[in-house]
Amino acid sequence: MLVEEFIPNTPIKKIDAGSVGYTSPSNIALVKYWGKKPHQIPANPSISFTLNHCKTETVLEFSPKNSDDFSFEVYLDGKKASDFRPKIKQFFERILPYASYVKDFHFDIKTSNTFPHSSGIASSASGMSALAMCIVALEELMYSNVDTDFLKRKASFLARLGSGSACRSIEGGLVVWGVHPNIFGSSDLEGMQYPYEVHDVFKTYQDAILLVDKGEKQVSSSVGHNLMHNHPYAQSRFEQAHTHLNQLIPILKSGDMNGFITIVEKEALTLHAMMMSSDPYFILLKPNTLEIINLIWTYRKNTNIPVCFTLDAGANVHVLYPKEYAQKVELFIQHELSVYCQNKQYILDNVGNGAKRIKN
Ligand code: DP6
Repeated sequence: MLVEEFIPNTPIKKIDAGSVGYTSPSNIALVKYWGKKPHQIPANPSISFTLNHCKTETVLEFSPKNSDDFSFEVYLDGKKASDFRPKIKQFFERILPYASYVKDFHFDIKTSNTFPHSSGIASSASGMSALAMCIVALEELMYSNVDTDFLKRKASFLARLGSGSACRSIEGGLVVWGVHPNIFGSSDLEGMQYPYEVHDVFKTYQDAILLVDKGEKQVSSSVGHNLMHNHPYAQSRFEQAHTHLNQLIPILKSGDMNGFITIVEKEALTLHAMMMSSDPYFILLKPNTLEIINLIWTYRKNTNIPVCFTLDAGANVHVLYPKEYAQKVELFIQHELSVYCQNKQYILDNVGNGAKRIKN
């Protein structure tokens, strides 16, 4: 499957050694991507909030070379990080038809995250989207007739080949990835900003990430996605995601908090229900995840504050709430929830603007 649009024409400029840099944020899905087809095509459409503070900063140093192999080194916080090599090599292999020039350079990929190491926060979305932005910035130096919009689209397209959810981190706000018949322009190949009216409350939404378990996950997302093949509930799950996204359209417009909370929490629990009912089955939730969820439900009932939770493929809890309740909810987190976090650690984040160039 080749997507002609993203295959560049003949290079017009030879370039010397240099560097480009981008920061790109993580994102948190409201309707989840879980299950995929070949070529990183999602089994169902998803939508996420782009985050603001949880980011990867990547500088790509490039120098021309002649051999026909990939040549690159990865550094995390200034130290060689060989663990990342296989994932990045796979990324280069997958993007080669669309960025054949990656074989013409040696790369030093210098990267760092703003969130704590091994916090259990998925760094693949921010990491792959930052690297994809660097790659298209390099392309921009070599080719003419490319506009900024196209480059962002291509970055999202490439990022998807590195890690599916990464394609939702290039743009800010709410980002949709995957074809939905009622979302005009939605694509399986790239993320795009949600195209319809969004109530102000969602433009400044808050996400407190409670670090329940900072250890390495027992089951990677890639393995989890694969277990959706032959999963007894897969088809109804994929239909449910379509329905949820459809239901979100009027909710995102009106700011209907109850509607939003119901869909977001159902999505989180369904994601984990899929893991618990796959073959082999597994559980990524921890006892403290459930303690936190129950406390959120009690707090919401007692205060009527529209706070809810969502989950990634891990034990950490994302607490979502409107900005106007930030002070109250953050006191609640500090006093009642942080004790269930590893070393009482949590990160306060909010909806952000997507990838940004780092000025040298
Ligand atoms: C649970 O994007 O990490 O966070 O495409 O295999 O890299 P790969 O998977 P990945 O899956 C993320 C799954 C999720 C839900 C979501 O972000 O939509």
